[in-house]
Amino acid sequence: MATPLTIAELKDVARRRVPKMFFDYADSGAWTEGTYKANEADFAAIKLRQRVLVDMTNRSLESTMIGEKVSMPVALSPTGLTGMQHADGEILAAQAAEAAGVPFTLSTMSVCSIEDVAAHTTKPFWFQLYVMKDREFVKSLINRARAAGCSALVLTLDLQILGQRHKDIRNGLSTPPKFIPKHIWQVATRPKWAFEMLGTKRRSFGNIVGHAKGVGDLSSLSSWTAEQFDPRLSWDDVAWIKEQWGGKLILKGIMDADDAVKAAETGAEAIIVSNHGGRQLDGAASSISVLPEIVKAVGDRIEVHVDGGIRSGQDVLKALCLGAQGTYIGRPFLYGLGAYGKRGVTMALDIIRNELDVTMALCGKRDIRDVGPELLHHRLPVVATEPARPSQ
Ligand SMILES: Cc1cc2nc3c(=O)[nH]c(=O)nc-3n(C[C@H](O)[C@H](O)[C@H](O)COP(=O)(O)O)c2cc1C
Repeated sequence: MATPLTIAELKDVARRRVPKMFFDYADSGAWTEGTYKANEADFAAIKLRQRVLVDMTNRSLESTMIGEKVSMPVALSPTGLTGMQHADGEILAAQAAEAAGVPFTLSTMSVCSIEDVAAHTTKPFWFQLYVMKDREFVKSLINRARAAGCSALVLTLDLQILGQRHKDIRNGLSTPPKFIPKHIWQVATRPKWAFEMLGTKRRSFGNIVGHAKGVGDLSSLSSWTAEQFDPRLSWDDVAWIKEQWGGKLILKGIMDADDAVKAAETGAEAIIVSNHGGRQLDGAASSISVLPEIVKAVGDRIEVHVDGGIRSGQDVLKALCLGAQGTYIGRPFLYGLGAYGKRGVTMALDIIRNELDVTMALCGKRDIRDVGPELLHHRLPVVATEPARPSQ
């Protein structure tokens, strides 16, 4: 196949290279997948204003997220099991992000551990925290992230119980795959993936196995996860975590202006407007559709970031025009990783960077920090109507 030119083309390659249960794990939303689809569709409905005869030289995409310099305001989202899209996936994605000058966020549920990613990168990355009932274990994760030099903690607020994703249940998703005929077939038909996976030791949840009490192997891990995520997580816990961490804090999963106001009161550096990529509350609004009201409510007090449905540099531009200071991509980088490993993550970032740059220029701007709602059409989408008939 010719070199992929879009995120959609990278997704097609990933589908052919990654065993079905792991490809589906990335390409799924909760229940009807309505929110997953709306995240993408609502970006497409926003139209850009074409401007002409404006100087387009010396363009810049550089900006900052939580005070850190970024070559463009696009971070990699935390995603669990990234090391199952490609062997050593978290290390490769972190290296690609570092080379591209954008933040990488490591999930609590990663395959490569915090220490492993730190050992294979040279700049600080961000660590995403899930809160378990075992507060000693939470403390130890925070301490490990600090010891590894992580420069921000991303606290995820929207997954205290797990949204149901039908595909994972049908596929019998497990890490590593069980040796049932269906899984053997899925792996055998993806020989490159299997060969690379055989060449690494990293095939389970690196931050957890061997670190959490009572979890020595994976057979006890699934029940541990279901029992351990804390459904009582509250705003008081956010204050406790902020105190334990003592560094920059980002609150992920805000979809409501009232919650955004409470989040701003915690003293965190930023919030991420996010519905977990449509993987939790199916039926929730798309994240881009609630971004403007959240920016209006708290944009003068806390940095507002957004994720969910970004599939191009144009989507990034639209989010920035609607008031986001930063954006994140989840599936786009996973598709790149599944397709071509580290090179594929670089491709995904290059595709988005190029689309962002050209679109900004054609909208008449040269500096990404200058874009605003004036680049967007405030018109209703065109609705097909009967052509008007001349009156007789
Ligand atoms: C396969 C997959 C795994 C994810 N795992 C996590 C996770 O471990 N922690 C977390 O906070 N969010 C997780 N998310 C949500 C992402 O951080 C992010 O909110 C979402 O992917 C953004 O939407 P997008 O994929 O449309 O870009 C996951 C998303 C995907 C697709």
